[in-house]
Amino acid sequence: LGYFSYDPGFVSTASCRSAITYIDGDEGTLLYRGYPIEQLARHSSFLEVAYLLMFGELPKHEELQSFAADIRQEAMIHETLRKFFEGFHYDAHPMAMMVGVVGSLSAFYHSELDMGDPHQRRVSAIRMLAKMPTIAAACYRHSVGLPFVYPRADLGYCENFLNMMFSVPSLHLGGDEAWYLDPVAVDTLDLLFILHADHEQNASTSTVRLASSTGANPYACIAAGIAALWGPAHGGANEAVLGMLEEIGTPERIPEYIARAKDRNDPFRLMGFGHRVYKNYDPRAQIIRKACHDVLARFSPNEPLFELAMRLEEIALHDEYFIERRLYPNVDFYSGIIYKALNIPVNMFTVMFAIARTAGWVAHWLELKADPEQRIGRPRQLYVGAPRRDYRPIEQR
Ligand code: CMC
Repeated sequence: LGYFSYDPGFVSTASCRSAITYIDGDEGTLLYRGYPIEQLARHSSFLEVAYLLMFGELPKHEELQSFAADIRQEAMIHETLRKFFEGFHYDAHPMAMMVGVVGSLSAFYHSELDMGDPHQRRVSAIRMLAKMPTIAAACYRHSVGLPFVYPRADLGYCENFLNMMFSVPSLHLGGDEAWYLDPVAVDTLDLLFILHADHEQNASTSTVRLASSTGANPYACIAAGIAALWGPAHGGANEAVLGMLEEIGTPERIPEYIARAKDRNDPFRLMGFGHRVYKNYDPRAQIIRKACHDVLARFSPNEPLFELAMRLEEIALHDEYFIERRLYPNVDFYSGIIYKALNIPVNMFTVMFAIARTAGWVAHWLELKADPEQRIGRPRQLYVGAPRRDYRPIEQR
């Protein structure tokens, strides 16, 4: 192999140095900038965590106020951008719209882009985080044919998103129909966003880094990350879990699906199970499992899919196949059940992941841009094709 090694899937290759997130897969440890995920989940907020990831320290009171004000300021999208949605058929997958619309932000913000200037980088990063919920909610509203809702300056990050998703002004009768601003809904969404905010060099973050290493426009780089996140092996798993649970339907059918997951000739995998790095448990899944109880008690008591998921987990965790391969529920095993309880449509689940992961993507982008050792990402390959041969005219082939 000469001077480089062959490592399919980058299982043992460190592509960069990073001070953002630490994972110990054997211990089930996840730290953002040194802080345990359990502590952040209990005490922090998504915006505070985003600040921590992006700038390295927990914000002081005034810093958080000013960060939140900047986010509110940037939450609107250009009116012309709204027209982009009209080009999508009503049944377009929201992730397809996200890739296109977020990528097109690069057509709006380019002239001022001096990526050598830390202030400009900060503005771009904040703008990205601020516009994501607005674009995401617009994807949903387009798909159901409802008018877009503007972000409101009096609402927090998650409240704003829920309001842009679900508010129907013409139906506002002054009653208690704004269930989506219930503190349990808002706090649960905030918690899910904290847990999904970063996860070091996962496929989408590595994609953002690789694209950024070429000096490409940051909004286009984030669009590349969204595309990578979409796949069912990565962020698309939350949508796939719900589909799987609905297909299984009743606990009696679980053994059939466990058997399929173990069958080498069947491509079916237990969605929401397994992780490249966690080989003991995924600490995020444990926190989400607990949160499921609270949110379901409030919005959807006796949700049969939760009972089913817990039974499936129990059976899998006692099965030799899963024990041997150290396969445990990951962050996405229970998140879809919560999103469902919050009335988020299933095809929006991965979009929810994308909103949260934007904090991590922009943190990595800021880190990469400030790294004096940064070079273009350019993996090598192991060539297995034909040896040198001579061209033959078409009539001689
Ligand atoms: N169901 C059944 N078998 C599995 C599963 C599963 N979910 N996951 C892994 N395996 C088996 C796999 O068949 C292989 O068996 P063998 O050694 O006999 O060939 C062994 O476990 C190792 O699997 P792998 O595919 O080599 O592991 P990986 O590190 O390349 O893949 C993974 C990790 C997460 C893509 C994979 O576990 C998977 O496809 N899980 C289901 C999809 C999923 O839930 N993805 C969300 C990941 S967490 C959210 C995120 O951050 O993206």
